[in-house]
Amino acid sequence: MRILVTGGAGYIGAHTVRQLLAAGHDVTILDNLHTGHRQAVPAERLVVGDLRDADFVDALLIQKRIEAVVHFAAYAYVGESVTQPARYYTNNLLYALQLLERCRRQGVARFVFSSSCATYGIPTTVPIPESAPQQPVNPYGNTKLAFERALADYTAAYPLGGCILRYFNAAGAAADGTLGEDHTPETHLIPLVFQAAVGQIPFVTIFGTDYPTPDGTCIRDYVHVEDLAAAHVLALDAIQPGHCRAYNVGIGKGYSVREVIRTAEDVCGRTIPVREGPRRAGDPPVLVADATRIRRELGWTPQYEHLRGILETAWNWHRRHPHGFRAPADR
Ligand code: UFG
Repeated sequence: MRILVTGGAGYIGAHTVRQLLAAGHDVTILDNLHTGHRQAVPAERLVVGDLRDADFVDALLIQKRIEAVVHFAAYAYVGESVTQPARYYTNNLLYALQLLERCRRQGVARFVFSSSCATYGIPTTVPIPESAPQQPVNPYGNTKLAFERALADYTAAYPLGGCILRYFNAAGAAADGTLGEDHTPETHLIPLVFQAAVGQIPFVTIFGTDYPTPDGTCIRDYVHVEDLAAAHVLALDAIQPGHCRAYNVGIGKGYSVREVIRTAEDVCGRTIPVREGPRRAGDPPVLVADATRIRRELGWTPQYEHLRGILETAWNWHRRHPHGFRAPADR
Protein backbone atom coordinates (compact mmCIF):
# COMPACT_ATOMS: atom_id res chain seq x y z
CA MET A 1 0.00 0.00 0.00
CA ARG A 2 1.07 3.60 -0.58
CA ILE A 3 0.72 5.10 2.87
CA LEU A 4 1.04 8.63 4.22
CA VAL A 5 2.03 8.72 7.89
CA THR A 6 1.47 12.12 9.49
CA GLY A 7 3.57 12.71 12.58
CA GLY A 8 5.69 9.78 11.46
CA ALA A 9 8.84 11.18 13.07
CA GLY A 10 7.26 11.11 16.54
CA TYR A 11 7.58 8.42 19.19
CA ILE A 12 4.80 6.04 18.13
CA GLY A 13 4.90 7.22 14.51
CA ALA A 14 8.55 6.34 13.95
CA HIS A 15 8.12 2.83 15.36
CA THR A 16 5.09 2.36 13.11
CA VAL A 17 6.92 3.63 10.03
CA ARG A 18 9.65 1.09 10.65
CA GLN A 19 7.14 -1.77 10.78
CA LEU A 20 5.20 -0.56 7.75
CA LEU A 21 8.42 -0.47 5.73
CA ALA A 22 9.37 -3.94 6.99
CA ALA A 23 5.93 -5.17 5.85
CA GLY A 24 6.72 -3.91 2.33
CA HIS A 25 4.55 -0.79 2.24
CA ASP A 26 5.52 2.34 0.36
CA VAL A 27 5.63 4.94 3.13
CA THR A 28 5.71 8.73 2.96
CA ILE A 29 6.17 10.57 6.25
CA LEU A 30 4.75 14.05 6.73
CA ASP A 31 6.10 15.75 9.83
CA ASN A 32 6.77 19.38 10.72
CA LEU A 33 9.48 18.25 13.17
CA HIS A 34 8.10 20.42 15.97
CA THR A 35 8.11 17.43 18.27
CA GLY A 36 9.26 14.72 15.88
CA HIS A 37 12.89 13.82 15.21
CA ARG A 38 14.53 13.77 11.80
CA GLN A 39 16.95 11.13 13.09
CA ALA A 40 14.10 8.75 13.89
CA VAL A 41 13.13 8.08 10.27
CA PRO A 42 14.75 7.27 6.93
CA ALA A 43 15.61 10.62 5.30
CA GLU A 44 14.36 9.60 1.87
CA ARG A 45 10.87 8.93 3.26
CA LEU A 46 10.48 12.24 5.09
CA VAL A 47 8.61 15.26 3.79
CA VAL A 48 8.94 18.20 6.18
CA GLY A 49 5.68 20.08 6.08
CA ASP A 50 2.63 21.13 7.95
CA LEU A 51 -0.94 19.90 7.98
CA ARG A 52 -2.03 23.53 8.29
CA ASP A 53 -1.38 23.90 4.55
CA ALA A 54 -4.26 21.89 3.06
CA ASP A 55 -3.20 22.52 -0.55
CA PHE A 56 0.25 21.19 0.19
CA VAL A 57 -1.32 18.08 1.74
CA ASP A 58 -3.55 17.71 -1.30
CA ALA A 59 -0.59 17.88 -3.65
CA LEU A 60 1.21 15.26 -1.62
CA LEU A 61 -1.78 12.89 -1.71
CA ILE A 62 -1.91 13.25 -5.48
CA GLN A 63 1.82 13.15 -6.16
CA LYS A 64 2.39 10.05 -4.03
CA ARG A 65 -0.91 8.43 -5.10
CA ILE A 66 -1.70 7.78 -1.45
CA GLU A 67 -4.09 4.91 -0.72
CA ALA A 68 -4.03 5.01 3.07
CA VAL A 69 -3.32 7.55 5.79
CA VAL A 70 -2.13 6.87 9.32
CA HIS A 71 -2.72 10.06 11.24
CA PHE A 72 -0.50 10.55 14.30
CA ALA A 73 0.28 14.26 14.07
CA ALA A 74 -1.20 15.86 17.20
CA TYR A 75 -0.37 17.59 20.43
CA ALA A 76 -0.56 15.25 23.39
CA TYR A 77 0.00 17.09 26.66
CA VAL A 78 -3.17 16.80 28.70
CA GLY A 79 -2.22 19.63 31.11
CA GLU A 80 -1.32 22.00 28.29
CA SER A 81 -4.64 21.25 26.59
CA VAL A 82 -6.41 22.66 29.63
CA THR A 83 -4.50 25.96 29.60
CA GLN A 84 -4.17 26.28 25.81
CA PRO A 85 -7.24 24.63 24.30
CA ALA A 86 -6.93 26.68 21.11
CA ARG A 87 -3.70 24.87 20.22
CA TYR A 88 -5.45 21.54 20.64
CA TYR A 89 -8.67 22.35 18.80
CA THR A 90 -6.70 23.88 15.93
CA ASN A 91 -4.07 21.21 15.57
CA ASN A 92 -5.83 18.05 16.71
CA LEU A 93 -9.26 18.81 15.32
CA LEU A 94 -9.26 21.54 12.66
CA TYR A 95 -6.16 20.34 10.78
CA ALA A 96 -7.24 16.72 11.20
CA LEU A 97 -10.65 17.49 9.67
CA GLN A 98 -8.94 19.33 6.85
CA LEU A 99 -6.78 16.28 6.22
CA LEU A 100 -9.79 13.96 6.32
CA GLU A 101 -11.66 16.11 3.83
CA ARG A 102 -8.69 16.17 1.43
CA CYS A 103 -8.43 12.40 1.78
CA ARG A 104 -12.10 12.04 0.85
CA ARG A 105 -11.74 14.28 -2.17
CA GLN A 106 -8.67 12.43 -3.39
CA GLY A 107 -10.21 9.00 -2.91
CA VAL A 108 -7.97 7.75 -0.12
CA ALA A 109 -9.43 4.37 0.85
CA ARG A 110 -8.17 3.82 4.42
CA PHE A 111 -7.66 6.07 7.39
CA VAL A 112 -6.18 5.03 10.76
CA PHE A 113 -6.56 7.48 13.61
CA SER A 114 -4.50 7.71 16.82
CA SER A 115 -7.00 8.11 19.59
CA SER A 116 -6.62 7.73 23.30
CA CYS A 117 -7.98 6.21 26.46
CA ALA A 118 -8.39 9.88 27.42
CA THR A 119 -11.67 9.75 25.47
CA TYR A 120 -13.17 7.61 28.26
CA GLY A 121 -12.60 10.25 30.94
CA ILE A 122 -13.04 8.79 34.42
CA PRO A 123 -14.07 5.23 33.60
CA THR A 124 -17.05 3.65 35.29
CA THR A 125 -15.89 0.09 34.53
CA VAL A 126 -12.35 -1.25 34.62
CA PRO A 127 -11.01 -2.90 32.49
CA ILE A 128 -12.55 -0.52 29.97
CA PRO A 129 -14.27 -2.02 26.91
CA GLU A 130 -14.68 0.00 23.69
CA SER A 131 -18.41 0.26 24.42
CA ALA A 132 -17.79 2.22 27.66
CA PRO A 133 -19.20 5.74 27.78
CA GLN A 134 -16.84 8.33 26.31
CA GLN A 135 -16.83 11.40 28.51
CA PRO A 136 -13.44 13.10 28.29
CA VAL A 137 -12.40 15.31 31.18
CA ASN A 138 -9.97 17.57 29.32
CA PRO A 139 -9.70 19.37 25.96
CA TYR A 140 -7.15 16.83 24.67
CA GLY A 141 -9.69 14.02 25.13
CA ASN A 142 -12.44 16.18 23.65
CA THR A 143 -10.49 16.80 20.45
CA LYS A 144 -9.72 13.09 20.07
CA LEU A 145 -13.34 12.13 20.61
CA ALA A 146 -14.63 14.80 18.22
CA PHE A 147 -12.40 13.49 15.46
CA GLU A 148 -13.41 9.90 16.20
CA ARG A 149 -17.02 10.94 15.56
CA ALA A 150 -16.12 12.77 12.34
CA LEU A 151 -14.24 9.75 11.02
CA ALA A 152 -17.14 7.43 11.84
CA ASP A 153 -19.57 9.79 10.07
CA TYR A 154 -17.32 10.08 7.01
CA THR A 155 -16.96 6.33 6.68
CA ALA A 156 -20.74 5.89 6.96
CA ALA A 157 -21.34 8.33 4.13
CA TYR A 158 -18.37 8.00 1.78
CA PRO A 159 -16.35 5.17 0.26
CA LEU A 160 -13.68 5.39 2.95
CA GLY A 161 -12.78 2.88 5.65
CA GLY A 162 -11.56 3.90 9.07
CA CYS A 163 -9.94 2.49 12.13
CA ILE A 164 -9.66 4.19 15.52
CA LEU A 165 -6.93 2.99 17.86
CA ARG A 166 -7.37 4.11 21.46
CA TYR A 167 -3.92 3.92 22.98
CA PHE A 168 -3.39 3.35 26.64
CA ASN A 169 0.10 4.29 27.94
CA ALA A 170 2.68 3.90 25.20
CA ALA A 171 6.01 2.91 26.73
CA GLY A 172 9.37 1.30 26.03
CA ALA A 173 11.71 1.52 23.08
CA ALA A 174 12.75 -0.48 20.04
CA ALA A 175 14.25 -3.83 21.02
CA ASP A 176 17.43 -2.99 19.08
CA GLY A 177 17.91 0.21 21.10
CA THR A 178 17.84 2.53 18.07
CA LEU A 179 14.47 4.25 18.61
CA GLY A 180 12.91 5.47 21.81
CA GLU A 181 11.06 8.15 23.69
CA ASP A 182 12.39 11.73 23.48
CA HIS A 183 9.95 14.50 24.40
CA THR A 184 10.72 18.11 25.25
CA PRO A 185 9.53 18.78 27.86
CA GLU A 186 9.39 15.24 29.18
CA THR A 187 6.29 14.63 31.29
CA HIS A 188 5.87 10.86 31.10
CA LEU A 189 6.56 8.69 34.09
CA ILE A 190 8.92 6.08 32.66
CA PRO A 191 11.47 8.38 30.98
CA LEU A 192 11.44 10.61 34.06
CA VAL A 193 12.11 7.62 36.29
CA PHE A 194 15.21 6.74 34.27
CA GLN A 195 16.33 10.38 34.17
CA ALA A 196 16.16 10.36 37.97
CA ALA A 197 18.02 7.03 38.06
CA VAL A 198 21.05 8.54 36.27
CA GLY A 199 20.90 11.91 38.03
CA GLN A 200 19.66 13.99 35.08
CA ILE A 201 16.86 15.17 37.33
CA PRO A 202 17.16 15.15 41.13
CA PHE A 203 14.05 13.04 41.79
CA VAL A 204 10.79 11.86 40.35
CA THR A 205 7.59 13.15 41.93
CA ILE A 206 4.74 10.74 42.58
CA PHE A 207 1.59 12.62 41.66
CA GLY A 208 -0.80 11.60 44.40
CA THR A 209 -0.57 8.90 47.04
CA ASP A 210 -4.20 9.00 48.20
CA TYR A 211 -5.96 7.38 45.25
CA PRO A 212 -8.41 4.56 45.92
CA THR A 213 -5.89 1.96 44.72
CA PRO A 214 -4.00 -0.68 46.76
CA ASP A 215 -0.88 1.48 47.25
CA GLY A 216 -2.58 4.87 46.82
CA THR A 217 -0.94 5.70 43.46
CA CYS A 218 -2.48 5.76 39.97
CA ILE A 219 -2.70 2.60 37.93
CA ARG A 220 -2.03 2.56 34.19
CA ASP A 221 -1.89 0.00 31.39
CA TYR A 222 1.58 0.31 29.82
CA VAL A 223 1.76 -1.05 26.29
CA HIS A 224 5.05 -1.47 24.44
CA VAL A 225 5.49 0.98 21.59
CA GLU A 226 6.42 -1.81 19.14
CA ASP A 227 3.22 -3.68 20.02
CA LEU A 228 1.32 -0.45 19.52
CA ALA A 229 3.01 0.01 16.14
CA ALA A 230 2.05 -3.55 15.15
CA ALA A 231 -1.61 -2.70 15.80
CA HIS A 232 -1.46 -0.09 13.01
CA VAL A 233 -0.08 -2.57 10.48
CA LEU A 234 -2.89 -5.00 11.32
CA ALA A 235 -5.52 -2.24 11.28
CA LEU A 236 -4.54 -1.08 7.80
CA ASP A 237 -5.00 -4.57 6.41
CA ALA A 238 -8.34 -5.07 8.12
CA ILE A 239 -10.07 -1.81 7.14
CA GLN A 240 -13.21 -2.23 5.05
CA PRO A 241 -14.78 0.57 3.00
CA GLY A 242 -17.80 2.06 4.73
CA HIS A 243 -16.78 0.76 8.15
CA CYS A 244 -15.05 2.36 11.09
CA ARG A 245 -13.98 0.11 13.93
CA ALA A 246 -12.51 1.30 17.24
CA TYR A 247 -10.01 -0.74 19.25
CA ASN A 248 -8.41 -0.31 22.63
CA VAL A 249 -4.69 -0.96 22.51
CA GLY A 250 -3.41 -1.98 25.92
CA ILE A 251 -2.14 -5.08 27.64
CA GLY A 252 -5.13 -5.41 29.95
CA LYS A 253 -2.95 -5.27 33.07
CA GLY A 254 -2.43 -2.27 35.31
CA TYR A 255 0.62 -1.16 37.27
CA SER A 256 0.75 1.54 39.91
CA VAL A 257 3.23 4.40 39.88
CA ARG A 258 5.04 2.82 42.83
CA GLU A 259 5.21 -0.52 41.00
CA VAL A 260 6.71 1.21 37.97
CA ILE A 261 9.38 2.87 40.12
CA ARG A 262 10.16 -0.35 42.02
CA THR A 263 10.45 -2.42 38.85
CA ALA A 264 12.57 0.28 37.21
CA GLU A 265 14.96 0.17 40.18
CA ASP A 266 15.26 -3.55 39.66
CA VAL A 267 15.89 -3.18 35.94
CA CYS A 268 18.56 -0.49 36.20
CA GLY A 269 20.08 -1.66 39.50
CA ARG A 270 19.98 1.83 41.00
CA THR A 271 17.95 3.60 43.62
CA ILE A 272 15.53 6.10 42.15
CA PRO A 273 15.08 9.21 44.28
CA VAL A 274 11.39 9.87 44.82
CA ARG A 275 9.28 12.65 46.32
CA GLU A 276 5.62 12.32 47.09
CA GLY A 277 3.54 15.18 45.72
CA PRO A 278 -0.09 16.15 45.25
CA ARG A 279 -2.34 14.72 42.58
CA ARG A 280 -1.96 16.03 39.03
CA ALA A 281 -5.23 17.52 37.80
CA GLY A 282 -7.20 15.33 35.43
CA ASP A 283 -5.54 11.99 36.23
CA PRO A 284 -8.09 9.17 36.54
CA PRO A 285 -7.14 6.72 39.35
CA VAL A 286 -7.17 3.61 37.14
CA LEU A 287 -6.97 3.18 33.35
CA VAL A 288 -6.75 -0.40 32.16
CA ALA A 289 -7.85 -1.65 28.74
CA ASP A 290 -10.15 -4.47 27.93
CA ALA A 291 -8.31 -5.34 24.72
CA THR A 292 -10.30 -8.44 23.86
CA ARG A 293 -11.62 -6.94 20.63
CA ILE A 294 -8.29 -6.20 18.99
CA ARG A 295 -6.91 -9.58 20.00
CA ARG A 296 -9.95 -11.38 18.61
CA GLU A 297 -10.69 -9.35 15.48
CA LEU A 298 -7.21 -8.31 14.34
CA GLY A 299 -5.21 -11.15 15.87
CA TRP A 300 -3.10 -8.62 17.78
CA THR A 301 -0.77 -10.41 20.18
CA PRO A 302 1.54 -8.20 22.20
CA GLN A 303 5.14 -9.37 22.51
CA TYR A 304 5.49 -7.61 25.85
CA GLU A 305 2.91 -8.81 28.38
CA HIS A 306 4.71 -7.56 31.49
CA LEU A 307 5.99 -4.24 32.70
CA ARG A 308 9.50 -5.51 33.35
CA GLY A 309 10.22 -6.31 29.70
CA ILE A 310 8.89 -2.91 28.66
CA LEU A 311 11.09 -1.15 31.20
CA GLU A 312 14.15 -3.11 30.07
CA THR A 313 13.80 -1.71 26.56
CA ALA A 314 13.20 1.82 27.91
CA TRP A 315 16.31 1.57 30.12
CA ASN A 316 18.39 0.21 27.23
CA TRP A 317 17.38 3.23 25.13
CA HIS A 318 17.97 5.72 27.91
CA ARG A 319 21.37 4.29 28.80
CA ARG A 320 22.52 4.39 25.18
CA HIS A 321 20.89 7.74 24.39
CA PRO A 322 20.81 9.79 27.59
CA HIS A 323 20.12 12.91 25.53
CA GLY A 324 17.58 11.30 23.21
CA PHE A 325 18.14 11.73 19.50
CA ARG A 326 20.38 14.76 19.90
CA ALA A 327 24.00 14.96 20.85
CA PRO A 328 24.53 16.60 24.29
CA ALA A 329 25.98 19.71 22.58
CA ASP A 330 22.73 20.29 20.69
CA ARG A 331 20.61 20.60 23.80
N1 UFG B 1 3.19 10.37 37.03
C1 UFG B 1 3.82 10.67 38.22
N2 UFG B 1 4.91 11.49 38.16
C2 UFG B 1 5.38 12.02 37.01
C3 UFG B 1 4.74 11.72 35.81
C4 UFG B 1 3.63 10.89 35.86
O1 UFG B 1 3.42 10.22 39.29
O2 UFG B 1 6.37 12.78 37.06
C5 UFG B 1 2.04 9.47 37.06
C6 UFG B 1 0.78 10.11 36.50
O3 UFG B 1 0.08 10.78 37.49
C7 UFG B 1 0.05 8.88 35.95
C8 UFG B 1 1.16 7.91 35.55
O4 UFG B 1 2.32 8.37 36.26
O5 UFG B 1 -0.70 8.29 36.95
C9 UFG B 1 1.45 7.93 34.07
O6 UFG B 1 1.62 9.27 33.66
P1 UFG B 1 2.17 9.68 32.22
O7 UFG B 1 2.30 11.16 32.22
O8 UFG B 1 3.36 8.86 31.89
O9 UFG B 1 1.01 9.21 31.26
P2 UFG B 1 -0.52 9.65 31.29
O10 UFG B 1 -1.27 8.47 31.83
O11 UFG B 1 -0.78 10.93 31.93
O12 UFG B 1 -0.73 9.99 29.76
C10 UFG B 1 -0.99 9.06 28.78
C11 UFG B 1 -0.62 9.64 27.43
C12 UFG B 1 -1.51 10.81 27.09
C13 UFG B 1 -2.93 10.40 27.22
C14 UFG B 1 -3.19 9.89 28.61
C15 UFG B 1 -4.60 9.42 28.77
O13 UFG B 1 0.73 10.04 27.42
O14 UFG B 1 -1.26 11.24 25.78
O15 UFG B 1 -2.33 8.78 28.85
O16 UFG B 1 -4.96 9.47 30.12
F1 UFG B 1 -3.75 11.44 27.01
